[in-house]
Amino acid sequence: MRKIVIAGNWKMYKTQTEAKAFLVDFLPQLTAQASEFGAAAQIILCAPFTTLPTLLGLAANAPTNLSIGAQNVHWADNGAFTGEIAAPMLVELGIKYVIVGHSERRQYFGETDATVNQRLKAAQKHGMTPILCVGESKQHRAAGETETWIASQLQNGLQDVDLTNLIIAYEPIWAIGTGDTCEAKEANRVIGKIRSQLNDRDLTIQYGGSVKSDNIDEIMAQPEIDGVLVGGASLDPEGFARIVNYRSL
Ligand code: 13P
Repeated sequence: MRKIVIAGNWKMYKTQTEAKAFLVDFLPQLTAQASEFGAAAQIILCAPFTTLPTLLGLAANAPTNLSIGAQNVHWADNGAFTGEIAAPMLVELGIKYVIVGHSERRQYFGETDATVNQRLKAAQKHGMTPILCVGESKQHRAAGETETWIASQLQNGLQDVDLTNLIIAYEPIWAIGTGDTCEAKEANRVIGKIRSQLNDRDLTIQYGGSVKSDNIDEIMAQPEIDGVLVGGASLDPEGFARIVNYRSL
C-alpha cells in the first residue's frame, strides 16, 4: 500500500526557540483539521540537528501522525568524521526518518551517488526510513536528459537498498526555491517513470520544488504523486498547516 507522506525540510533554518514557537502554533492547526484530513497521511518535519530533541519532546503530545526527521546521516556508526552525524546518534533520540542525497548536499558538499548509497544503507541498517532525493538540473532538462539522469541516480544510489523501507522525493533542481514549480502533470509523468523503473507498487514517491499552499491541491490530485517534500513553505506554521491539510480535488 502506497502511503501519503507530507514532509517539511527546514534546511538550515530555525534555532531551538524558533522551532518550539513553530510547533506551538502548528500543532493545534493539525489537531483541529486532523479528522477532516483523516489519519492516512504521515507528516514529517526534517529539522536541524540542534532542534531535534526539543521537537521530539513537543511532538510526543501531538497527533500520532507527526514525526520528526533529520536531514543527513553518515554511513559509519562512529569515527573521525568531523561535522557529520551517525545513525545511532539519531536513533537514540527517536528519529525515524532522514533525508539523504538532497540536491543541496550534492551541489555544495560533494555528495555523490556512491556516498548517497552508503548513507541510505546506514539509515536502513539502524531502522530509519530514508527519503532519497533525485532530480535533474535545468541543463539536463533542456538537453532532454531528465529521464536518463534520474534513472542513473536511482540505479547507482539504490544498489542493495531495501525498497520496502524507503521514500523517494523527485525534486527537479530548477524548481527548488525558485517559485518555478514543476507543472503537476509533468511531475506526475516523471514520478510514473521512477515507479516503473523501480517496479515497486508500494513505494511512496513525493514531489518537491516550490510546493506552496496554493498549488498543493493540484499536486496531490495527481495519481502518481504520494506526497510532497516542502522547503520554504514548511517554515511558516499557517502555510504548512494548509499544505498538510490539502483538499482532495
Ligand atoms: P522549496 O520548497 O523551498 O522549493 O524547497 C524544496 C526542497 O528542497 C525540499 O527538500
